[in-house]
Amino acid sequence: MHEEAIAPAVAAGLTLEEKAALLSGEGAWETTAIPRLGIRSIVLTDGPHGVRKLAPDAEAFRFRSSLPATCFPTAAALGSSWDADLLHSVGEALGREARTAGVSVLLGPGINIKRSPLCGRNFEYLSEDPVVSGHLGAALVRGVQSTGVGSSVKHFAANNQETERMRVSADVDERTLREIYLAGFEHVVTAAAPWTVMAAYNRINGVPAAHNHWLLTDVLRGEWNFDGLVMSDWGAVSDPEASVTAGLDLEMPANAASAARLVDAVRTGRIEEAVLDRAVARLLTLVARTAGTTDSVSPVDPETHHALARRAAAESAVLLKNQDSLLPLDPDARMTVAVVGEFARTPRFQGAGSSWVNPTQVDSALDALTAAAGEHLDVSFAAGFTLAGEPDEALLAEAVAASASAGIAVVFLGLPEGEESEGFDRTHLHLPDVQVRLLEEVARVNSHVVVVLANGGVVQTAAWQHHAKAILEGWLNGQAGGAAVADLLFGRVNPSGRLAETVPLRLQDTPSYLNFPGSEGVVPYGERLYVGYRYYDTVDMPVGYPFGHGLSYTTFSYSDLHTEVLGENEEGVAVRLRLTLANTGPVIGKEVVQVYVGDVDASVDRPLRELKAFQKVELAPGQQTTVTFDLSARDLSFYSPTLHRWVLESGDFHVSVGSSSRDLRLTATVPVTAPPVVRPLGMASSVGEWLAHPEGAPLLRDLLNTTKGSALGTDPEISRMIESLPLERLLAMSAGRMDAAPLSRLTEWATVPAP
Ligand code: GLC
Repeated sequence: MHEEAIAPAVAAGLTLEEKAALLSGEGAWETTAIPRLGIRSIVLTDGPHGVRKLAPDAEAFRFRSSLPATCFPTAAALGSSWDADLLHSVGEALGREARTAGVSVLLGPGINIKRSPLCGRNFEYLSEDPVVSGHLGAALVRGVQSTGVGSSVKHFAANNQETERMRVSADVDERTLREIYLAGFEHVVTAAAPWTVMAAYNRINGVPAAHNHWLLTDVLRGEWNFDGLVMSDWGAVSDPEASVTAGLDLEMPANAASAARLVDAVRTGRIEEAVLDRAVARLLTLVARTAGTTDSVSPVDPETHHALARRAAAESAVLLKNQDSLLPLDPDARMTVAVVGEFARTPRFQGAGSSWVNPTQVDSALDALTAAAGEHLDVSFAAGFTLAGEPDEALLAEAVAASASAGIAVVFLGLPEGEESEGFDRTHLHLPDVQVRLLEEVARVNSHVVVVLANGGVVQTAAWQHHAKAILEGWLNGQAGGAAVADLLFGRVNPSGRLAETVPLRLQDTPSYLNFPGSEGVVPYGERLYVGYRYYDTVDMPVGYPFGHGLSYTTFSYSDLHTEVLGENEEGVAVRLRLTLANTGPVIGKEVVQVYVGDVDASVDRPLRELKAFQKVELAPGQQTTVTFDLSARDLSFYSPTLHRWVLESGDFHVSVGSSSRDLRLTATVPVTAPPVVRPLGMASSVGEWLAHPEGAPLLRDLLNTTKGSALGTDPEISRMIESLPLERLLAMSAGRMDAAPLSRLTEWATVPAP
């Protein structure tokens, strides 16, 4: 039922007090019921990678007292899978578990852009790129909602840090907002129609997201046609009148004072009752949409979901380095593998805060490796360090001894839980010193070292990676991550993850370094569009591992790139790409074919290259296939705040396909023809803009040709200087030397409003 269909019933049946009560929750996790009208309460709960349904006797905000549920890989891992089909399956499983737990809306996915690797909540977000975030976020939403459970894409918008998150103002220019921080949300809303959106805690250019009419009504509903409900983040509303007027429909958690304030606001005429009716209609639409969740659903098999979590973790791991093809290990080899590091025995597999899940079971890599080892392969273990992270010489010595007597040492490292979480940001990108020292000592006695990482936010590898022949980035990979790592190390699964966030060489190299996390309540997004690889590639900066990078146990070739400019036809496709991909190696594998576009003739600055499409393709050894991409006019466009729209300019575009942003296998120059971009012209426009305008130029030339002593057009040096001059200044300086007729023709034309 759409909101218009409900509004009359709402207006007729509910009292003002009941309407106001509906616009704030009942307790921490439920909406308000109105039994006399048959309006049921629905349950909303976290989270993005597992259902955190509080146990009946738990306190409302005790994160770690929830019912058991499958803890899937966190978004940092899932984002590295680059696999929309997989994420749809994970979303569907999340939805089924939510229904089983009586949850009607699952609060996720989180799709905020990873502006800085220091953000404490990056484990909960998908990528530094809006195409990866948008496409994979949309897949998760579709999966969850396919079960009749609503999703809540969050945190809308520009919530890219935890520092001061409830009051900091993200000061972002509109073009950057549109192209980077809103684009992922736009894709999710327009492609997957989430039933709810969660407004963020922070301000955007001074205006709280929860009270931001431009964001929640003009853009979200006016431009993107969002027809769902906007809820607040928990505790984000400081002014219920401003929020409901701006387009926020549901304040969470319950706030009786807000309900009373809304009643008073209507009674005293500060806001129209129709504003409440609109929000109530959206809430009732959500209740109606989730009505199916009350139907009985076949019970979830925890083992089936555990197996899916294992597959997802294996698909998400990124093989960063594999010198001498040290991996995969042969489980039937006659040798000892030393498993080193407490994380092998006590896995770190999820983040901290509201997304925390009480797992149904947890696989440790140590157990999984031991179980998978053949009869001649011995697996030894040494903790090497304590989870508390203090130096422990005995543990170190034990790990060195174990490594010295082993053929291969697999060292499990990563970020301790206290280093990254919702609620605070990181201050550095390093692994703990005790872990780096352990690796150094192990590498001193064994030259065949594999490092397996468990971390949500990226860690700097440059300082220690030379000690390891192979590095597998496992991320926070969920309850089955340990078994997935064993699958990958023993080659039962071929790694296919790709970095969805650049690994920088140093923190100082990161584009937001000078502007993160801001100060005195403001965080300036001074790097503008140049986030992640958009910055590193444009300034040609060396990185640890580039965006899109990931190795495989096989190899792939790219050939025969064909491009076809289709113009703007009925499907809106502008450029069609075709290429041949082949598996040229020994085993079956998956390649993520990435398409990057660079606009070489733009009238505005643009990143050197931007990801516009990707496909994950599985091929057997020797197999090849044709991969096709359709790029729309929008894919090639930039956003113009002065024209208030997306702009496609004619000119050459460099279109590259490859295996990462720095491993571009094929590039073509594609000439695109688009309608001329006519910018509104006025007396404040520059002489150069006038001379570039199809109608303005002749008028100005007539005027200049009749101006006594005009050097413009004759003296090149003068011409360059004058072109940036606002026309009104030129006219003022040339007063008395200009012919009246052409001057009046120009000024009359300029004052006619542009069509
Ligand atoms: C938290 C988080 C949000 C979560 C909500 C409910 O503060 O910002 O992601 O869904 O509150 O726990």
